[in-house]
Amino acid sequence: MLKEVTATRYITPLREGGSLPGLVEADDFGTYVMKFTGAGQGRKTLVAEVVCGELARRLGFRMPRLATVRLDPVLGLGEPEQQVQDLLRSSGGTNLGMDFLSGALGYDPLAFPVGPAEAGRIVWFDALINNVDRSWRNPNLLVHRGELWLIDHGATMIWHHNWPSAEASAARPYDAGDHALARFAPDVSAAAAELAPRVTEDLLAEVTAEIPDAWLADEPGFDTPDDLRRAYARPLLSRAAVIAERITGIGFGPEEGK
Ligand SMILES: Nc1ncnc2c1ncn2[C@@H]1O[C@H](COP(=O)(O)OP(=O)(O)OP(=O)(O)O)[C@@H](O)[C@H]1O
Ligand SMILES: [Mg+2]
Repeated sequence: MLKEVTATRYITPLREGGSLPGLVEADDFGTYVMKFTGAGQGRKTLVAEVVCGELARRLGFRMPRLATVRLDPVLGLGEPEQQVQDLLRSSGGTNLGMDFLSGALGYDPLAFPVGPAEAGRIVWFDALINNVDRSWRNPNLLVHRGELWLIDHGATMIWHHNWPSAEASAARPYDAGDHALARFAPDVSAAAAELAPRVTEDLLAEVTAEIPDAWLADEPGFDTPDDLRRAYARPLLSRAAVIAERITGIGFGPEEGK
């Protein structure tokens, strides 16, 4: 279960984030990076954060701990900025929190080289979840205490925006040409050999169980939140077995040499 906390103070917006994430303090005295259900990208972004973030953690990637953060919209009343006030007011209930890594720096490939094994594991994982947001322009990787941490899995699993065609969409290749770690000769085969067998039905059931029901309710075509949880698990399970051969843009794969 994700830790459940309640926001007690809105500290400041994080200006770099497109979805206007904010820093909040919670009733456990923790400081969280909070992503709001009322943000333009909607609750599917938060579902993607939970599924991919919790899967990453279980596969051994460094990934800040996630929590659900309850928000009383009253917290927004004192905010001087209209945009922030609107966001807090429209985000009552369950939102997403992530442990704030104090002092973490945005990843710069020129300043922090990564070995082929670690690059391969991250590229393979991003291919699995179809992450389009780990480019050298916007790596969504942090360097914290000398190590690389993954953040921001909101723009993944594009198939969850159109469930009837999810299977076909999940069968498509992954273009890693723009990936922040593409330059480090990622050893995707070794990563697949290690990680693919670990992406099992049981593991995915454990991961999808972490999604709050509130973000799964009333999805057209699904009777219950658990039906939708299974729909999240299926493409990842089938993709895990084949995706290594469908990665393009890093010097091998089906599109190379054409
Ligand atoms: N757990 C964290 N600890 C420290 N800083 C963080 C953390 N999470 C996010 N940040 C900082 O906040 C920024 C925005 O976060 P994030 O990328 O998750 O938001 P976003 O709105 O999804 O961004 P994007 O513009 O990439 O869509 C990050 O680039 C990073 O600088
Ligand atoms: Mg980001």
